[in-house]
Amino acid sequence: IAVDPFDLVVFGATGDLAYRKLLPALFHRHRDGQLPDVSRIIAASRRKLSDDDYRKLTEDALTKFVPAAEREPEHVASFLKRIFYVSVDAKIDDEGWPELGRVLEEGKDRVRAFYLAVSPDLFGVICEGIGAHGLITPETRVIIEKPIGKSLASATALNDAVGKVFKESQIYRIDHYLGKETVQNLMALRFANALFEPLWNAAHIDHVQITVAENLGVESRAGYYDTAGALRDMVQNHILQLLCLVAMEPPNQFEADAMRDEKLKVLRSLKPITASDLEAVTVRGQYRAGASAGGPVPGYLQELGSDDSVTETFVALKAEIENWRWSGVPFYIRTGKRLPARLSEIVVSFKSIPHSIFGSAAGQLVSNQLVMRLQPDEGVRLWLMIKDPGPGGMRLRHVPLDMSFAQTFKVRSPEAYERLLMDVIRGNATLFMRRDEVEAAWKWIDPILDGWAASRESPKAYTAGTWGPSSAIALIERDGRTWHEEI
Ligand code: BG6
Repeated sequence: IAVDPFDLVVFGATGDLAYRKLLPALFHRHRDGQLPDVSRIIAASRRKLSDDDYRKLTEDALTKFVPAAEREPEHVASFLKRIFYVSVDAKIDDEGWPELGRVLEEGKDRVRAFYLAVSPDLFGVICEGIGAHGLITPETRVIIEKPIGKSLASATALNDAVGKVFKESQIYRIDHYLGKETVQNLMALRFANALFEPLWNAAHIDHVQITVAENLGVESRAGYYDTAGALRDMVQNHILQLLCLVAMEPPNQFEADAMRDEKLKVLRSLKPITASDLEAVTVRGQYRAGASAGGPVPGYLQELGSDDSVTETFVALKAEIENWRWSGVPFYIRTGKRLPARLSEIVVSFKSIPHSIFGSAAGQLVSNQLVMRLQPDEGVRLWLMIKDPGPGGMRLRHVPLDMSFAQTFKVRSPEAYERLLMDVIRGNATLFMRRDEVEAAWKWIDPILDGWAASRESPKAYTAGTWGPSSAIALIERDGRTWHEEI
């Protein structure tokens, strides 16, 4: 279904995010007929380019980031007609702003969205420019991306800067993990089935695991990454959002504030990790040279070009939620670069049965697990015990009820940005983060960062291509559990 007519202004249009994610996502929505004919994409950056120059850059980005089979020349040609370019230097008052105003005038009754695909230190000045040049209409929204701060204090300052110009209801904070199909499916599984919700609590669930593993290293992003590290880059946002969706109470409707109120309660119920627990419940690692599927790969410090960094490229944590539903149920989290595979999944492990009627000849009874796989091969698996087929007596086996989205639906799975960008135009903030959520997440993360900074320990080394330092395995095995590994 087509969205309402809109103009989307992308600041930072010559950056990586625009080329890799935004333009391909918009192209797919165009190709599927979801963009009204009048809608324009107005690229803005400091570089002096013409509309045609930027159209050429767009075409190159599509060639690089959209598979050839999905890139029919007629769709590319019609998409390029939507593209316009304005050179704006956000910091200089008359550099491009009046021109942007003139271009936007033509669409003054349309939905207007500003995407700030720029470094966060420009959020404030760009918002001020938008406000000062009278570019805010009643249907205007602004989209910002992580990193929203490096700590609670800096996140608050950024939110204040954007909030000086835009109302909270106009601000869309993207966490692209919320746009992933499996993540939305988690909501469907939990709240559109009668089966799971009665079991979704400490009485029936033993523990939850969230793994977001990447096989790539930091490569050309080492400069940014070294100022962040895995805890800020992945846990503060993506992984805590996943944890919230698993743990939250059912909202009364699938609507922005109802959802965000429930997620916020989870964040506020996270048990603080204090300096004295730090060693027992957190592990940080940094990769050394090793091997990936493609052959030998350098270590983090070599990629960074310095031997002086204690930035973690891996983190494992045990989080606890202090409320009735989750009391005593650990949430084990791990994420890292240069692990053996690109694999993201949420595993809900149920408790064992109270008593087995089968003798030892039946084999080992394994407890049920619900595995929601975000990538690759999105899908859901429910692991159950069944009888091994055949006449050989009552032998039991642990097998998955398997639902692979690709095999079941045979449709292309949209990229997260496709869904999220269209949601902004529709004015639907359900899959976006509210200010108080971002700040509550930082409030839990800050003491971990402070504790690490104060400790004399460095991150533990792990060899590229392995599942992180051995202490990450010890973290969960101490509790008599193991990481779920099934590739
Ligand atoms: C980004 C992080 O937010 O998410 C990157 O900054 C990370 O470091 C990426 O690689 C992972 O996203 P995805 O969608 O590839 O799992």
